[in-house]
Amino acid sequence: LLFAGRNVMRLQALLGDPAGRLFGVDPTRDPYPEYERVRRRGVLVKSRMGLHLTASHALSTSLLRDPGFGVLAPNALSPVDSSAHVGGRRLVNPVEESFLVLNPPEHTRMRRLVAPWFTPRGLRAQTATVERVVEDYLDEVAGRPTFDLVRDFAGRVPIQVIADLLGVPNADHTAFARWARALVNAIDGVRDLGEMRALHQGLREFQEFLDDLVEHRRREPGPDDVVSALVANEDLSRDDLIATTELLLVAGFETTVNLIGNAVLAVLGHPEVRERLLDDPSYAEAVVEETLRLDPPVQYAVRVPFATTEVAGTRVPGGTPIMMLIGGANRDPGVFADPHRFTPGRPEAREHLSFSSGIHYCLGAGLARMEAAAALRGLFRRFPDLRAAGPVVRRPSRAIRGPARFPVTNGVKK
Ligand code: HEM
Repeated sequence: LLFAGRNVMRLQALLGDPAGRLFGVDPTRDPYPEYERVRRRGVLVKSRMGLHLTASHALSTSLLRDPGFGVLAPNALSPVDSSAHVGGRRLVNPVEESFLVLNPPEHTRMRRLVAPWFTPRGLRAQTATVERVVEDYLDEVAGRPTFDLVRDFAGRVPIQVIADLLGVPNADHTAFARWARALVNAIDGVRDLGEMRALHQGLREFQEFLDDLVEHRRREPGPDDVVSALVANEDLSRDDLIATTELLLVAGFETTVNLIGNAVLAVLGHPEVRERLLDDPSYAEAVVEETLRLDPPVQYAVRVPFATTEVAGTRVPGGTPIMMLIGGANRDPGVFADPHRFTPGRPEAREHLSFSSGIHYCLGAGLARMEAAAALRGLFRRFPDLRAAGPVVRRPSRAIRGPARFPVTNGVKK
């Protein structure tokens, strides 16, 4: 735990001071003016703590695709010490032991195992489930004149979709959602050893749950879920299996919640967009794409050069983190016309880096797009007059951007 505590401090030290004010300010504040300040300072900007930052679209893209750069070494910044044991069980770090932070060749091997669920064919097979999940949660809020868009809708759809993808039996969905939420909240907000212990405890319980699920699927494989397929693969260790399952949850849950939240915020802020969406529900896809660009749920990615190298005229020693400000790159005027404007359907829409680029390009991008579009279509079809019913509270996170609390009124007169 103490070792893990030091890691938290390193994490905070690293995030505490990029480019002076950038992350030293209230994390719920609009970060986009800060990214513009980084852009004005240069293509690659060095903070006092030695962290390099870029808001350049061209540089971010080339670094993300450069085989001379990799993801940070596992554990370097993690709030979970992978040698930690709780109750005699080794904790598998859900992020740091997954392929999100592996470099090739291990990355390639692990990513391949789950890729089939995310092909266009795999996604088509999931569309009906996603639409059903959206309608189920809309049914639940339909009787209430006001509800919280995040707690009661956006926060529930993705977790249900992932539970189905992983093959969690229906009877366990409530427990699964509870662990998933505890895990994701803790990872976002570990500030001291008390929270660290809570995270470790939650992780242990969640892993027990997954171990049980694995046993269940060994005895009774489902027809097409991820866990049943991974269990059948004899080359995969228990820890790899747990890490991959947890990655799908951690990577696909909160990100999608925030995409739906940000997209609804954008629609409420642009009456002409709402009008068009009501006329043509297929417009939801363009709205989701432009939300991804202008207000991305994941605000940055980090890469390190394997060896000392020159980047935009600066000598960068091997192993030095470079932070690519996705939210800044997505407003690079060299790529996006009138970059601060919300313009669904703009021709260069898909140039954004919200799903990263290169070998770690988000595996779930298609699922996220499909889910968010289904959520928007369903929501505005059901509640065409949806309105904010109080102040929106932003998530207190620098890495993930979206509303934490978002009271709405469904506009239906009783
Ligand atoms: C990777 C964003 C939804 C699974 C990533 C990365 C980003 C990202 C930026 C790359 C990080 C890096 O380059 O360092 C998002 C956003 C989402 C979303 C904004 C929703 C709006 C999902 C969903 C799933 C998923 C729904 C699956 C259920 C993954 C996986 C990786 C990943 C497995 C690791 C890929 C690799 O390392 O090869 N995501 N994601 N994501 N995402 Fe997503």
